[in-house]
Amino acid sequence: MFKDFFKYYKSKEPPPDFGAVIDFKKPDYSKVRNILPDVNEDEGVAQGLKPIKEWKIYGIISKPGLIFIENPFTTLGQQYWITRCVRDYSSKPNKTNLDLHNLFTKHENWWDECSNSAERARTLLPKLRWATLGYHHNWDTKEYSENAKDSMPEDMMKLTRCLAKVASFHDFKAESAIVNYYRMNSTLSGHTDHSEVDCEAPLFSVSFGQTAIFLIGGLLREDPADAIFIRSGDIVIMSKSSRLRYHGVPRILAADSTPWESESSKDITQMKEKFSDWDRIKSYICESRVNMNVRQVLRPGQTSLDNNSP
Ligand code: OGA
Ligand code: MN
Repeated sequence: MFKDFFKYYKSKEPPPDFGAVIDFKKPDYSKVRNILPDVNEDEGVAQGLKPIKEWKIYGIISKPGLIFIENPFTTLGQQYWITRCVRDYSSKPNKTNLDLHNLFTKHENWWDECSNSAERARTLLPKLRWATLGYHHNWDTKEYSENAKDSMPEDMMKLTRCLAKVASFHDFKAESAIVNYYRMNSTLSGHTDHSEVDCEAPLFSVSFGQTAIFLIGGLLREDPADAIFIRSGDIVIMSKSSRLRYHGVPRILAADSTPWESESSKDITQMKEKFSDWDRIKSYICESRVNMNVRQVLRPGQTSLDNNSP
């Protein structure tokens, strides 16, 4: 059962054996297979991505429709998206879990507050858990509404359109996203994402920072689950018969590599010019994981939730 796997990987005492975790850095071809990218798509070089012909894409044989792309980002791309998640997507018009707590005045936001005072940062940094973008996911009703909708960031729309094309989904439109912020002791319990009108459209999950154990089960809670390592830059696409599988994150592990760190001094100079706040953002990501979970809500051609056609 899903929850037994969750408990097993979450446990600190005794610690789990990670031997059965699927590791796409060392692919076991009795369980996984290669997928060829749709390389007619050339948009990739934008958005901090490596040339598509260099990407490594995998499927899990027992889970058709589940697609794994091993970190296709350049170092600068990692820095760009980490900065977007930490500094930008955490502020207005996006909603966050901190909104309810009235922690800030109208002109303050989480990242600025954390940057202004080390004392405040100590208590405030770990408190951010999620931000919602576009059609805001309502955690209570699990329903989207035209009354709770803001615009989606262009760059996130463009990135996921490119990822969709590479995986041969030709009319994906990003209309909603949850950005999850994990500290080393955070978890995300087992769930399915079924609030979207169009559950045929794929869901894109892009992660940065520390490593996660990601559990992917079946359509029922009673089904067993596979565990996968997700490292910085890795992308999971849930589509077709895997779109509605149970999944969750029982554990965050210290990263075994830091693909967000520049190696060349030329890169470091370029970086400092681009993202002035990088040093602080880097220290945040050294003890955090961020995950952009991007969904299409409407059916192709549908223009509003109040309008069911076509
Ligand atoms: C979600 C989700 C998974 C992750 O936000 O719905 O499943 O890897 N996130 O953080
Ligand atoms: Mn989910």
